[in-house]
Amino acid sequence: MFLADSRLENRESVAAELDEVKPTHVLNAAGVTGRPNVDWCEDNKAATVRANVVGTLNLSDLCSLRGVHCTVFATGCIFEYDAEHPLGGGAEKGFTEEDSANFFASWYDRIVNIPNSMTVLHELLPASLVIAEKKLSGIINFCNPGVISHNEMLDLYVKHIDPTYTYTNFTVDEQAKILKAGRSNNELNCQKLVDAVGSECEINEIHAACEKVFIRMKENLTADGTFPDNLFKRK
Ligand SMILES: NC(=O)c1ccc[n+]([C@@H]2O[C@H](COP(=O)([O-])OP(=O)(O)OC[C@H]3O[C@@H](n4cnc5c(N)ncnc54)[C@H](OP(=O)(O)O)[C@@H]3O)[C@@H](O)[C@H]2O)c1
Repeated sequence: MFLADSRLENRESVAAELDEVKPTHVLNAAGVTGRPNVDWCEDNKAATVRANVVGTLNLSDLCSLRGVHCTVFATGCIFEYDAEHPLGGGAEKGFTEEDSANFFASWYDRIVNIPNSMTVLHELLPASLVIAEKKLSGIINFCNPGVISHNEMLDLYVKHIDPTYTYTNFTVDEQAKILKAGRSNNELNCQKLVDAVGSECEINEIHAACEKVFIRMKENLTADGTFPDNLFKRK
């Protein structure tokens, strides 16, 4: 496994790195996400497009020219619950890979505080290796089955990490006042992923998967309640 150095928008640099490393597969999870949050992208559209659109196309094209399988981790925030895909409708009414985008309220987006599909990387990154090894192509909804709300996540945090933690809720209207753009909320149907991976990886329903996230987080905490310095460092 090799961690790339190139910036996606620097086509020559990406090409040179591909030719030097000669990978069999590329997994691209790079992208401008904005700091302090995704609203940054609303004010910096050119820089965001340069990395996330031009850069992703650069890398995909350069991989295609070399016959290298390229996996792009993108976003499900192009969908919003609607009459055909209602909140609480379950996986069979979730958005599939064939559905067209129906959420355009933000130019760039991120989800908050309503039941949504979510990806537990600890379980799904191994699944992405299976997909790459099988050289599957096309769009694959990359999330755990089911939906989970922000409150349910915080409740798991309270249960496993900090029983003294408290929070108060935002209404959607109150939230809208502090955001530059609306946020997308949806359930993605991930049956295609589950079928593709089969028994090669464990993919749990999202509540069970998140419970395991917090159990691992608790185990990784040091005795004084802080994370070890090297927990998120590159190996
Ligand atoms: N996290 C989620 O729940 C989620 C959900 C849906 C979609 N996504 C998408 O997945 C991607 C990654 O998300 P994340 O949460 O992992 O974001 P993140 O924590 O902000 O990480 C983004 C990574 O991309 C790198 N990067 C940014 N611009 C780059 C460029 N021009 N060339 C090469 N590398 C670049 C950053 O490196 P530097 O720090 O060096 O710039 C950083 O390592 C984004 O496109 C995001 O929209 C994430």
